[in-house]
Amino acid sequence: MAEDLVYQSLERVAETAGDLSDAIYARYFELCPQSAEIMSHTDEGMRGRMLDEVFRLLLNPEPSEEIEYLAFEVDNHRAYGAEVHMYGNVLAAVRDVVKGALGGEWRAATDQAWAERLEALESIIRKAA
Ligand code: HEM
Repeated sequence: MAEDLVYQSLERVAETAGDLSDAIYARYFELCPQSAEIMSHTDEGMRGRMLDEVFRLLLNPEPSEEIEYLAFEVDNHRAYGAEVHMYGNVLAAVRDVVKGALGGEWRAATDQAWAERLEALESIIRKAA
């Protein structure tokens, strides 16, 4: 687990950068104004619980273990109006904010590890949608 670079970078920002939730949602809604509209009624608690699950997904080095969970959430989220591209945007928002918080500690290998993790999750979501 310790060698997983996605895990390492999230652990590092948790230690050094404090709560990134507001920055992540700000980036998410900047990337995806449609999502901002859909989430306009949600409060901080709801947003926090959603982000906890997004972090949990990102921290799993075996994204294939999340197929059932993602099928469940994609199904639930259909009723809220969530579309496939919006999932990519929320994941990209986490990456962007973590990258910004890590500064010079974000290396090419970190970038590669994130790209692979995001693609693995998005591929599962595309199949579920
Ligand atoms: C992998 C990505 C995602 C995960 C794991 C996830 C997970 C969750 C969870 C667990 C909740 C329930 C929070 C609670 O009430 O305790 C939630 C709520 C919600 N999510 Fe997501 N979500 C994801 C992506 C999205 C996307 C792309 C949208 C599109 C805008 C979205 C819109 C919403 C909305 C509107 C709610 C509140 C629903 C309500 O009013 O009850 N989510 N999400």
